[in-house]
Amino acid sequence: MKISIWYFSGTGNTWYAAEEIAKALRIRSADTEIYSIEQCNADQVEHSIASSDVIGFGYPIYGSDLPLIMKEFLLSLPHRKSPVPVFLFCTQWIFSGDGTWAATEFLPPGYEVGWSRHFRMPNNICISLIRLPFTNDSEKIQKKVEKRIPSFQRFAEHIIENKPTRHGFTYGSTFLGLMQRSPFRRLYERLRDDIAADPSRCTRCGICIEICPASNLTFDDTGSVNTRGTCILCVRCYNFCPHQAITYMGRPHILSRGIPYRGPSGYNPAEHGRKIK
Ligand SMILES: Cc1cc2nc3c(=O)[nH]c(=O)nc-3n(C[C@H](O)[C@H](O)[C@H](O)COP(=O)(O)O)c2cc1C
Repeated sequence: MKISIWYFSGTGNTWYAAEEIAKALRIRSADTEIYSIEQCNADQVEHSIASSDVIGFGYPIYGSDLPLIMKEFLLSLPHRKSPVPVFLFCTQWIFSGDGTWAATEFLPPGYEVGWSRHFRMPNNICISLIRLPFTNDSEKIQKKVEKRIPSFQRFAEHIIENKPTRHGFTYGSTFLGLMQRSPFRRLYERLRDDIAADPSRCTRCGICIEICPASNLTFDDTGSVNTRGTCILCVRCYNFCPHQAITYMGRPHILSRGIPYRGPSGYNPAEHGRKIK
């Protein structure tokens, strides 16, 4: 059985989930390929999708919704003449309600969801505005993400054994998901317009520009970091800036909270996310 997994990950959690699910599928003899949607071109997508017996899509939850980049990817998938079984997985801090079901709005005809699962992972929102609890302690992060491995393995088992399991596909979860998703979608344009670089901390190293999955950040004529209005709210620039110079809604990172969340060990946004040209 040939399986392809397509994922987006802002700060490493979904990357980790995708890798672990792929590992568990391979142990069960499935020929599994894994792709970051930031790093593949349309030809690759067309070819790999056409030759897959089962296809998986993974993404982080933003306000019970999918990241814009994932929505665009799903909408651009080639239409299938014959139906193909699909599994969906999302990573979230606490709750999304129907975070996987939300993807069905964007899947073209022929992609039939047989399995879906929500995985709880560490929180990646570290912005000063709302001060949610997060950890940057690599041992604690590793412990938390490794605790999920049995769930990844069970999910893989269900796929291989063709036991349909669909989390987030009930009326109750849709109702709860909509309670978060509706206000989040209404506020989206406002929320995505608030990233900036604090000139007193920014060294113009350009890392934020290189790792942004949405090409939102650029150097302006004066050499300062500027935005183009294409932010997808993944918080990668905020979390991975080596100088904590990225601000959100005008508020810089509170240095006494330590560095922001930077994902499970082994995650490197330049390697697993957007390619550095
Ligand atoms: C803009 C934004 C909105 C989020 N909304 C939710 C949410 O509604 N529910 C939740 O449990 N976690 C939420 N989170 C947390 C992430 O979904 C979670 O940490 C995820 O595992 C991050 O995955 P990644 O490291 O692959 O980007 C949100 C994170 C961001 C950046």
